[in-house]
Amino acid sequence: MSLDDKAAKPHDRLAAALATDMDAVNALIRDRMASEHAPRIPEVTAHLVEAGGKRLRPMLTLAAARLLGYDGPYHVHLAATVEFIHTATLLHDDVVDESKQRRGRPTANLLWDNKSSVLVGDYLFARSFQLMTETDNMRVLNILANASAVIAEGEVLQLTAAQDLGTTEEIYLKVIRGKTAALFSAATEVGGVIAGAPEDQVRALFDYGDALGIAFQMVDDLLDYGGATEVIGKNVGDDFRERKLTLPVIKAIARADATERAFWTRTIEKGQQAEGDLEQAMALMRAHGTLEATRAEAIAWADRARAALAPLPAHPLRGMLDDLADFVVARVR
Ligand code: IPE
Ligand code: IPE
Ligand code: MG
Ligand code: MG
Repeated sequence: MSLDDKAAKPHDRLAAALATDMDAVNALIRDRMASEHAPRIPEVTAHLVEAGGKRLRPMLTLAAARLLGYDGPYHVHLAATVEFIHTATLLHDDVVDESKQRRGRPTANLLWDNKSSVLVGDYLFARSFQLMTETDNMRVLNILANASAVIAEGEVLQLTAAQDLGTTEEIYLKVIRGKTAALFSAATEVGGVIAGAPEDQVRALFDYGDALGIAFQMVDDLLDYGGATEVIGKNVGDDFRERKLTLPVIKAIARADATERAFWTRTIEKGQQAEGDLEQAMALMRAHGTLEATRAEAIAWADRARAALAPLPAHPLRGMLDDLADFVVARVR
């Protein structure tokens, strides 16, 4: 595909612009996901890695570093680190969420078991730390180690907010900023740091990743109610079944009358779900326009992401990052 093919999706144009770097990242991922000592490890990692995934986060790191003129080798290590952290969290997340489908395939917890997913996830986390130390850059280690802790905090906060009808939009934002946006912002920030970018530009990259990650998770939460399984590669309705208080539900509960509130208490708080409840939940969300309202918030965060790019130098990659923000919400635009 030609780089100036404007009709191509921004994600594909980024992938084309970063193809050489991305090949190096994929080679490094394949090399480091192996293990000579425990055959279960390459079985599980190959299952997930070969399924693809959008590789959004490593592309963000590569794009940030290149945009700021980096020409050393370590952006590749950082991009692979970020994808390893992401993959480790997916393995753990699918155990926690009892999910059955990921990247269009059965989850590792379903094909093997929870024990394998937890332990292979730990292995990938450890491998990610090894990879990042190879950069010999204390500041990027600090950023990525911090992001790893914040992701775990976000997942744990979500665990305790689940089933709680009192969960506010503020708590929701805290959850998604932690579990999802922290890795997006770390991915872009380390790209700037490794490139030796000035502080205002490193800050701009962080802000872009943060807002993009928030928009991304809001869209993911919308698709859980409105997407098609074939498109998202995951099962629709997982969040309802898991009794998660995502933004469309929080907004619907805030607008509920007494009968509707009883419905949410039964299905989300008490977990007494029956045939047709998911459809009823979706009907209530449609009636109160909460899917629309969530979509509007995701678009506002995407706009914030694009605005954050202002201090960065003019560059084709900057244009692609700008378009990527639109693309992330275009799935539901
Ligand atoms: C999935 O992220 C986890 C969320 C933050 C919603 P992606 O949708 O980027 O997953 P892959 O890597 O493309 O499968
Ligand atoms: C994704 O959370 C965030 C992490 C993996 C840390 P979700 O549970 O909302 O994402 P999906 O829907 O399983 O991809
Ligand atoms: Mg999940
Ligand atoms: Mg989850």
